[in-house]
Amino acid sequence: MLDKKIAKLLNEQVNKELYSAYLYLDFANYYADEGLDGFAHWYEVQAQEERDHAFMIRRYLINSGVKVEFLPIAKPDKEFKNHLAPLEAGYEHEQYVTSLITAIYHEAFEQKDYKTMQFLDWFIKEQGEEETNADDMVKKMKLFGTDAKGLYALNQELAARVYTPSATGPAM
Ligand code: FEO
Repeated sequence: MLDKKIAKLLNEQVNKELYSAYLYLDFANYYADEGLDGFAHWYEVQAQEERDHAFMIRRYLINSGVKVEFLPIAKPDKEFKNHLAPLEAGYEHEQYVTSLITAIYHEAFEQKDYKTMQFLDWFIKEQGEEETNADDMVKKMKLFGTDAKGLYALNQELAARVYTPSATGPAM
């Protein structure tokens, strides 16, 4: 049985991951509306990955004997003033998610909950990758996205992203 505080944090994290999926779908809506289908596709894939993260944590809670409680998912409230803005918001959001995962990891460490630490190892690594990806998107957009040809090429590149289910995630 999980400690109550750790269970509460993980339960909240399910909500945060579902919100992340919602947020990235909102980014995808924006880009689709702007005619940038490659960018929209990239964020649709990202939303699927975030949903997977939520499922993985939900399953861990269930397998640990915790009753999962669903919290309301907030409405994404971003207004974007240009094509770079969602990418910067995405990078900022991933840094925030990393801080949440780190806080849960810290609590598990304090309580010598090695099982949860091991479960979260995958998420620690994943957050490192997601921050790098988000930062790369911002850098590429700044470098190439300011002229039409560069933006077109970048849109094509992002359209090639393939969704891979997070089956390599932590044992559930
Ligand atoms: Fe599930 Fe992008 O963190």
